[in-house]
Amino acid sequence: MPKIYITRKIPNAGIDKLKSAGYAVAISEKDGVLTKEELMTALSGNGYDAVLCLLTDKIDDDVFEAAGTQCKIFVNYAVGFDNIDLTAAKKRGVMVANTPDVLTDTVAEHTFTLMLSIAHRVAEADRFTRAGHYQGWAPMLLLGTDLSRKTIGIVGLGRIGARVAHHAEKGFDANVIYYDIKRNEAFENEFHATYKPSIEALLAEADFVSLHVPLLASTRHLMNADHLKLMKKTAYLINTSRGPVVDEKALTEALRSGTIRGAALDVFENEPAVEPGLLKLDNVILTPHIASATEETRSKMSELAAENIIAALSGQTPPNLIG
Ligand code: DGY
Repeated sequence: MPKIYITRKIPNAGIDKLKSAGYAVAISEKDGVLTKEELMTALSGNGYDAVLCLLTDKIDDDVFEAAGTQCKIFVNYAVGFDNIDLTAAKKRGVMVANTPDVLTDTVAEHTFTLMLSIAHRVAEADRFTRAGHYQGWAPMLLLGTDLSRKTIGIVGLGRIGARVAHHAEKGFDANVIYYDIKRNEAFENEFHATYKPSIEALLAEADFVSLHVPLLASTRHLMNADHLKLMKKTAYLINTSRGPVVDEKALTEALRSGTIRGAALDVFENEPAVEPGLLKLDNVILTPHIASATEETRSKMSELAAENIIAALSGQTPPNLIG
C-alpha cells in the first residue's frame, strides 16, 4: 500500500481521495509549521511514496534525502513553489507539482478586496467607527479614491494577473496596462490592455499597481525605494504574490512620507513577521496570506494535490508537474 505524508492538516477532500485510492495517509499532528528537523524526522526511514507539503515548508536537498529514494513526488499545496529547491529535486529524480488554476478566481477576488478596501479606506473607517468617533454624516469624512476608469498596472501576466485584468476591464471600465517579460497580444486585444516594455514605464502611469510575479532572484525587492519613487503620489500598491517582492522597509518609508498614497499586502517579506513600521500606519491594509483562503478553493487545492499524487504513483504524468 503506497504511503503518503501530509505536513499539516488540510481540508478533507484530497485526504479522502487518497484514502479511496487505497493509500495509507499520515498527517502531521503538529498544529503549526514543522521545523526542518521535525520534517526530516517525520520522513526519515518511513518509506513515504509521496509528500504533500505547504508553502511554509522549506523543501531542500536534505529533506529529499530524508524522504528517501522511494519517494516519487512532492506536491506543494499552493500555486507558488519558491519554497522548493527544484534543482535538488531534479538531481534526485523527484517530481514536484503544485495546485494552480483552482485558486485563480479566489486570489483575483482577494486582490480586488484589497484594492477596493484601501481605496475606500474600509479598514480605517471600521476602526474609526468602532472607536466611537462617528458623529454623523459629513461631506469630507474619510474621503477615498475611485477604482472605476482608473489605470490598473498589472506586473506579471500569469493566470492571476490576467484574471485581475479581466475584472478591472469588465467590472470597473479600467484602463489596463501590464508589464511581463513576455508580451501577450491576444490578451491585449481581449482586454484593451497596453503592454509596457519596462516596469518603470508601468509604475509612472498606474493608479493601482498589482503584483503577480513569482518570487525569483530577479523579482526579489522588485519594489524597492527607487521603484516606489517612480509611482504616482496618488497611487496604491497591492501585493498578493510573495512578500520579498517588496522591500518592506522601503515601502514603510514611502507610505510614511507620502511617496505613494497607500498599499495593501497579503504577503510579507519575513512571514509571519510584519515590518513593525507598517503596523503603525493607517494607509496600509494587511491580511495574513489568505488570498486563496475560501472553503471552496482550499478544498479544490486539496483535491488537486491528491490528483497529482495519484497520477504520479500510477505511472502517469501529474497534471501540474513543474519539475
Ligand atoms: C499560493 O498558493 O501560492 C498563494 O500564496 C495563495 O495565496
